[in-house]
Amino acid sequence: MDAGWIVVATEDELAPGQMKRIEAGGKRLLLCNADGQFHVVDEMCSHEDYSLFLGCIQNGRIKCSLHGSYFDLKTGRAETAPADKPICTYPVKIKDGQLWIRPS
Ligand code: FES
Repeated sequence: MDAGWIVVATEDELAPGQMKRIEAGGKRLLLCNADGQFHVVDEMCSHEDYSLFLGCIQNGRIKCSLHGSYFDLKTGRAETAPADKPICTYPVKIKDGQLWIRPS
């Protein structure tokens, strides 16, 4: 039932607005707490090779701090230029107080 899922944090580990870097499935990912909703996305911006960990979370979006593009954390869609490609999103679930993700 949990095939492909891994535990990456406890439910109370990240306060709203905080992120955690994760390496899983050969990928660099970000676990994000957007006002109590957890999302997992690619760590690197789709515009240039720059870490979104250096940005911030605002209203369900993550902002790249290099050129200011916003990405929807639920869909990965690039909402503002200069980025015009989405970032990948990954399933996340809470079970027994732990956060699970499926990075494949
Ligand atoms: S590197 Fe992220 S918007 Fe340019």
